[in-house]
Amino acid sequence: MPPAQHHSNPMAKSLTSGRSARKTVYSCQNCGAEFPKWSGQCGECGAWNTLVEGISAPKPRGRGAGLPVSGGAVQNLSEVSEEDSARVPTGLGELDRVLGGGIVPGAVILIGGDPGIGKSTLLLQALAALQGNLNTLYVTGEESLTQVSLRARRLGLPRLDLPVLAETRLESILDTLHRTTPGFVVLDSIQTLHTDTLEAAPGSVSQLRECTAQLVRYAKAQEKGGGCAIVLVGHVTKEGAIAGPRVLEHMVDTVLYFEHDAGSRYRIVRAVKNRFGAVNELGVFAMTDGGLREVSNPSALFLSRHEQPVPGSVITVTRQGSRPLLVEVQVLVDGSPAGNPRRVALGLEGNRLAMLLAVLHRHAGIALSDQDVFANVVGGMRIQETAADLPLLLAALSSFRGRPVAQDLVVFGEVGLAGEIRPVQAGEERLVEASKHGFKRAIVPEANRPRRAVKLDMEVIAVARLDQALGHI
Ligand code: TYD
Ligand code: MG
Repeated sequence: MPPAQHHSNPMAKSLTSGRSARKTVYSCQNCGAEFPKWSGQCGECGAWNTLVEGISAPKPRGRGAGLPVSGGAVQNLSEVSEEDSARVPTGLGELDRVLGGGIVPGAVILIGGDPGIGKSTLLLQALAALQGNLNTLYVTGEESLTQVSLRARRLGLPRLDLPVLAETRLESILDTLHRTTPGFVVLDSIQTLHTDTLEAAPGSVSQLRECTAQLVRYAKAQEKGGGCAIVLVGHVTKEGAIAGPRVLEHMVDTVLYFEHDAGSRYRIVRAVKNRFGAVNELGVFAMTDGGLREVSNPSALFLSRHEQPVPGSVITVTRQGSRPLLVEVQVLVDGSPAGNPRRVALGLEGNRLAMLLAVLHRHAGIALSDQDVFANVVGGMRIQETAADLPLLLAALSSFRGRPVAQDLVVFGEVGLAGEIRPVQAGEERLVEASKHGFKRAIVPEANRPRRAVKLDMEVIAVARLDQALGHI
C-alpha cells in the first residue's frame, strides 16, 4: 500500500482548509486522476480502492514536463543543431541494444521491474562500465552507502571510484546536479524521491509526477552543454504497471521493463517506448553470483530440451525487436470438471487464445468447449505477435489428442477468423534461424514460402488454411 496522507482528524482538516489554495483531493494511485470526493472506484481508469486522500498543492505554474528553453523563438528544423545527439555506449552490449545503441545525452530513461529483479545491479554495472567516458552519479534513496559499496565489491566491478549520493530530497539532488554537472545520473528509485513543493507522501502519484517533471526539465536544459542523461528506477506494483504507473511513461523518452520467470536466472530487458530507437527490442541477461552477465546469443534459450517428444509442445520462431528467437509454446488441454472450462494464457494474450479456439472449432471441427486449456511460453518469454497463433493451435491439438509433434519441427503463422493462415514478417529470417539450430521441418504460411534463392537445409511445408496445417501433424 502506498503511504497515504490521512486527514480524518477534524482539527487537521480545518487547519488544512484554512490555508488558501490548498484543498483535499483524492488521487488515483493507478492512473493519477484527481477527484474532489472519495469513491471506491476510480472514475477514470476503473481501478478499485486506489483513491488516496491528499492535499492538492497550488500547481507550479507554467512548469510542465515541457521545455521552455527556446524562449519562444521559432526555428526551422534545418537550423537546429544535431551535434549533441551522439550516443555513448554503456559497454553492456545487451543494454545498448535495448537503448537503441547507447545513451543519448539529455535522454530520460525509466527502468521498471519487480523488486529484487536486478535493476540496481544492472545500473551499478553500467555506471562502472561508463566510468571514464562520462561523469556519473548514483543517487540512492533505498540503500545506504554501505550497502551500495558492499554490492559493488561483491560485483567485482573494475572500478570502485564511483560518485554516489544517498539523498531523497529532490531539491538537494538538483542542487548537486547543478554543482557537479554529471553526464549520466541514476536515481534509485523515483518512488523514494520527494519535492518540497508538494506535501503529498513520497511515492504518491503527485510526487512521482512532479519529481519526474523537474528532472526531465533539468535533463533537457543541459542538452546544450554536453548533456545529462537520467535513469529513473521504478518499482512495479502487483498489477504490473510502474507504481504511480503509467503517469510517468509519457513524460520520459525511453521506458524499459525488466521481466523474468519465477525461479529462472534469466532476465529480459524490454524497450516498450523509445524515442531514440526501436521498441520491443530485447536484452537478455543471466543473474550470476557476480551480477548480471550478458547473454548475447539467446536464440535457443527458451527451449526446454525434452528427452522424448511430449504432447502439447510446439517450437516457434518469434521476432523480438530485430532478433529472431526460438521459443517453445506449451498447451495443456484437460477435461474440465466444472461446466465452466478455463482458458489460461501465460506469456500470450488470453483473448487471442479464446478466439483461436473458436477458429479451431468452426474451421476444423475440433471442439474444446468441455476442456480446460492452459497455454504457456517456456522461460517466461512474452510473445506479442500473431506468429504464435498456428503453433498455439497445433500445441492445443497435440495435447488434446495426446500425440506429440516431431521435435525437429518449427511452426509460425497468423491464423485469421476465416481459418486462413496469414503471413508474418521476416519469414525467411525465421527459417534461417531455425535451420541454424538444426530444425529439419517447418510449417509456415503460404505467403512466407521462401524464394528459390534461399538455401535452407530443411523441408518447408507452406499452408494456406488451418485444416491443411492440421493435416501435417
Ligand atoms: P537488485 O539489483 O537489488 O534488484 P532491484 O534493484 O531490482 O530491486 O537485485 C537483487 C537480487 O539479485 C537479489 O535477490 C540477489 C541477486 N543478486 C545476485 O544473484 N547476484 C549478484 O551479484 C547481486 C548483486 C545480486
Ligand atoms: Mg534496487
